[in-house]
Amino acid sequence: MGAPYNNPMPKTHLDFDLPDSGVTEALGAALARAFTGASVGARGAVLYLRGELGSGKTTCARSLLHALGVLSIVRSPTYTLVDTYSVGALNCVHVDLYRLRSWPEVEELGLRDLTGPYYLMLIEWPEKGGDAVPHADVDLHLRYAGDSRVATLRAVTEVGDAWLAKLALDASLVPYVSNLT
Ligand SMILES: Nc1ncnc2c1ncn2[C@@H]1O[C@H](COP(=O)(O)OP(=O)(O)OP(=O)(O)O)[C@@H](O)[C@H]1O
Ligand SMILES: [Mg+2]
Repeated sequence: MGAPYNNPMPKTHLDFDLPDSGVTEALGAALARAFTGASVGARGAVLYLRGELGSGKTTCARSLLHALGVLSIVRSPTYTLVDTYSVGALNCVHVDLYRLRSWPEVEELGLRDLTGPYYLMLIEWPEKGGDAVPHADVDLHLRYAGDSRVATLRAVTEVGDAWLAKLALDASLVPYVSNLT
């Protein structure tokens, strides 16, 4: 077993004020740049997008996917539950579990087969899927703040830590950062 200091607990935690949907989109685009810049794709990653109905999860995911190079229209996977897009070697998987009705249904989605190297999985409503849902590398939580939103991002794994450490350096988000840790 490695010494604890060889495997530090992920610690990156970022908070942002998102005054309008354009800034939610800017966060998504910056997440894409950081994903590429930190070379996360080769290891693969899972991003949870949590938050109440209408809090901006799809807005953020759509912008992230387009900024990664997805050219097609990105719809909310509300009814399909899982939509996939490929960009070069990278497989992007956009999941929305809000309408899940049963445990067999989530097992049948086979989400774990859509994770690993060269997979990026974005999951809206991950809490609805129980144990069948792959673990997050980054946990993004959107909350209402009047008419606008606030976002909290936490790294859960080393991969997530590398991703968010890169995100923290993105100059486009500096005006919206509300914490620095
Ligand atoms: N920062 C923001 N401030 C104000 N409105 C926003 C912000 N971000 C997104 N919105 C708007 O909120 C609405 C709902 O967004 P979106 O569909 O992305 O939410 P969602 O969290 O995916 O919802 P659902 O839970 O139904 O999947 C859209 O009209 C979007 O433009
Ligand atoms: Mg949505």
